[in-house]
Amino acid sequence: MNLRHLIDFNDMSTTDWNMLYNLTCDIIKAPEKYAAACKGTVLATLFYEPSTRTQFSFQTAMLRLGGNVIGFADPNSSSVSKGESLRDTVKIVSGYADIMVMRNPLDGAAYAASLYSPVPIINAGDGAHLHPTQTMTDMFTIYNEKGTYENLNIGLCGDLFNGRTVHSFIKAFSRYKNNRFWLISTKELMVPGYVYETIENTDNEIITADNLEECIGELDILYMTRIQRERFKTDEEYKTQAGIYILNKSKMEKAKPNMIVMHPLPKVDEIFYDVDDDPRAIYFKQARNGMYVRMALILLLCEANRERYTDLSVYPLPQRQFCNNQRCISNKEIYLPELIKDSACVYCEHKLT
Ligand code: NCD
Repeated sequence: MNLRHLIDFNDMSTTDWNMLYNLTCDIIKAPEKYAAACKGTVLATLFYEPSTRTQFSFQTAMLRLGGNVIGFADPNSSSVSKGESLRDTVKIVSGYADIMVMRNPLDGAAYAASLYSPVPIINAGDGAHLHPTQTMTDMFTIYNEKGTYENLNIGLCGDLFNGRTVHSFIKAFSRYKNNRFWLISTKELMVPGYVYETIENTDNEIITADNLEECIGELDILYMTRIQRERFKTDEEYKTQAGIYILNKSKMEKAKPNMIVMHPLPKVDEIFYDVDDDPRAIYFKQARNGMYVRMALILLLCEANRERYTDLSVYPLPQRQFCNNQRCISNKEIYLPELIKDSACVYCEHKLT
């Protein structure tokens, strides 16, 4: 696999993903074979935003491969609190570690970091943009449960606007066909344009809906998400959206007997406790799969080529803010080169107007 960084799920070809899927299965079957596979290798976790699952699963993944882990879970405990730029932090830490995992509140931050890193960068969530390793977890789980990525009725419910797991999920599915996507949300929290467009131009169908109960009976997969409180400008705005979609036992009675309920977790109130014991609720299993797919990813990336910097001298430095997405990393780290592709910002994928 000739993958340097993992910023977007689609950085991997379908062949790469199949290889990763198979490697994950092998790790689950015979973990002892991999117990020293990364001996002497150091993983750095740079978490500028809170995390339990993603951070712990990356850390345990590396420990189970025999490697070591350094990092911070709170930027206030690092030089970031002194005003250090992302570029400097990345240059320094990549001198100590062999591979880095980064979560940051700004869209495009992992991509920006990858421009300055001679070692692989894994995107563990960049703002409201993408979360590719959660998608690997989701794709692994779906194949295990359904045996296919096609001909499925997939409901995505909740905060589709701010939910980065949803954006990565939809982008990953854009390479498969004959699926029907039920986008279940309020109109305020519908998926952003650039995500909608990735699936719109494929052999998949999109249905927008605002009532979960009315469509649950059609679904093979229901992917519930948390309303992303931290992404709203004010708490009042958040409160207008909170508590609208709640999955409970009575709604589950209307679902197919083999529908699966997924959630990237943490869940707050969108899934009532009486659903947890339903065998169709597989989110805890999904979370455990996350550790194994991350083991496979670390293993493959550690084998990839190192010391290949991006040649930034060929790109212009921005004369002004070029991206109109206020949550884009390019508006905070002003030394970043102006990168535009197909009239969209390369960091956060928002269309430039
Ligand atoms: C998700 C995230 O951080 O985007 N959590 C996770 O990584 N499993 C979803 C969320 O926080 O709601």
